Amino acid sequence: MCGIVGYIGQRRAYDILVQGLHRLEYRGYDSSGVAMISDAAELNIYKSKGKVEALEHFAANKDLSGTIGIAHTRWATHGEPNDTNAHPHFSQSGRLAMVHNGTIENYSVLKKALSAHGYTFVSQTDTEVAVQLVEYIMDTNHCSLFDAMCEATKRIVGAYAFAVIDRQNPNQIIAARQSSPLVIGIGEGEYFLASDATPIIEYTNKVVYLDDGDIAVIDRGAELKVFDSKTTSKSRVEITELQMSIEQLEKGGYPHFMLKEIFEQPKTLADCISGRVSADGKKITLSGVIEHRSKFLKTKRIIIVACGTSWHAALIGKHLIEEYCRIPVVVEYASEFRYANPVVNQGDILIALSQSGETADTLAALELAKSRGAFVFGICNVIGSSIPRATHSGCYIHVGPEIGVASTKAFTGQVTVLAMMAMLIGQMKGTVDDATLERVATDIRRVPTLIKDIFTKNDKKIEELAKIFTYAHNFLYLGRGYNYPSALEGALKLKEISYIHAEGYPAAEMKHGTIALIDNDMPSVVIAIKDNVYEKTVNNIQQVKARGGKVVAIVTEGDTIVAQMADYVIEVPEISECLTPLLTAIPLQLLAYYIAVNKGRNVDQPRNLAKSVTVE
Ligand code: M6R
Repeated sequence: MCGIVGYIGQRRAYDILVQGLHRLEYRGYDSSGVAMISDAAELNIYKSKGKVEALEHFAANKDLSGTIGIAHTRWATHGEPNDTNAHPHFSQSGRLAMVHNGTIENYSVLKKALSAHGYTFVSQTDTEVAVQLVEYIMDTNHCSLFDAMCEATKRIVGAYAFAVIDRQNPNQIIAARQSSPLVIGIGEGEYFLASDATPIIEYTNKVVYLDDGDIAVIDRGAELKVFDSKTTSKSRVEITELQMSIEQLEKGGYPHFMLKEIFEQPKTLADCISGRVSADGKKITLSGVIEHRSKFLKTKRIIIVACGTSWHAALIGKHLIEEYCRIPVVVEYASEFRYANPVVNQGDILIALSQSGETADTLAALELAKSRGAFVFGICNVIGSSIPRATHSGCYIHVGPEIGVASTKAFTGQVTVLAMMAMLIGQMKGTVDDATLERVATDIRRVPTLIKDIFTKNDKKIEELAKIFTYAHNFLYLGRGYNYPSALEGALKLKEISYIHAEGYPAAEMKHGTIALIDNDMPSVVIAIKDNVYEKTVNNIQQVKARGGKVVAIVTEGDTIVAQMADYVIEVPEISECLTPLLTAIPLQLLAYYIAVNKGRNVDQPRNLAKSVTVE
């Protein structure tokens, strides 16, 4: 959360910074700000509460000159979202400006010490403490900004991606990384800096990902230099070529990124499967698994750590791996796992599941498991992000940039990768026979076409249905087996973008308490596809109906039984049971989307949320 942008070159920095902030706005949108060293050698900072548009409005008549600058879009951690707490922050003398993504754990101790030296603070942020500390070190040690940053990072405990500029040196940006991402784009005589590659791709596809402990010295017109902040020794600068296109970052005619991303799923899943499932359905290739075959064959336990939607995908992964590989799987919230002193045995495999690859809790959970001897495997979307860089092996889901804060195509990509993994490991172990592999693998290849089919038959219907339920205050989502996590995911989608309270529940658990909530005003969305507990789910629907509840049922095409008892029915095509969450996810995403639109919500940037949760 929070997005950082930086630029140094020949162009007007402001334009690049603001465009970059728009690209990174999904990381946080409480406030934004820019700092530029102007043509008149002034250090100008403009910042504003709210979206980047508010900043643009505020800055419109100001001096926007300068070819060096840094910028920030904020998801508030320390101090309420207001103009004062917005980044960038000045140092005491007004000489330095800093932007920061992360949290400084020892900021109050540092603040106290600096206050004792006469430093005063205008904001409540930890970032202002950091920039004051850097200036204090420069002044007391009479050293360069680079030396002061190296020293400051030794004193700071916490997570950070920093970018700093010095009014007295309009030819340099210093950037430092510890547990929060930073990417440097290399152009022709210019450099770009950002929290991820999305603000960079329109200028260059050559990037350098900073590692934890790196400090980059970005000098105008000179070679990029990266140092180890502890030893100040020079590190190797490894240039990576981005595999991303600018079209992937645009809405492409859709009113929201979320809708675009929902409708992209036939394509993104085809990309996810491409080269991995053979045309005859007889072979699955995932090099990250195959290269570590013996680890997967020998392991006695798999732990999957994740948060939010990824955690729901992990629950489906558990079903898949346990059913087809007969390996016990534990699914943990990363935030709980990291502080629980968990039992991790040599030989355990920990899978870190994360769209962004930057979620702080998931990263910390994997580091903990790694330190205790687990083999760590990442399933991520963002290439080059922190989790894939910290794991022993992994698989990308390859669904392209997901910009909408609500995860949609990443969820189906994660489930698809987990399904492929379960089939592959099962085949290697001999727990999946050839016929099963061929059936499921062939069905995996059918998924993109079947999703298109769901759009054709149901999109308009769901849009209409959404009108009926827009003003409900509560929703229940019920499902069983593979689709219990689908119910959790459907409820989360509705909650996060429409702000309607919703609970996901295993359908049979309802009678142990939740059923008390059911009345005419409490709609239930029930996933009642033809699976091994279909009849039981039908009973659960009857229990809801008997208490006057309204039921929207997601059923298998051709179902006539549920159609007679439910108030509304949405059909999805038949497929292998283990893949049904890939199809049931689609109507759930659309229902949440249309309800949120009807309520006039900001679907892509719901309140209080950020796409990539890089703080605890
Ligand atoms: O990037 P990650 O998959 O690690 O993110 C995990 C959650 O923050 C994320 O899934 C969140 O719950 C989404 N807003 C859900 O739509």
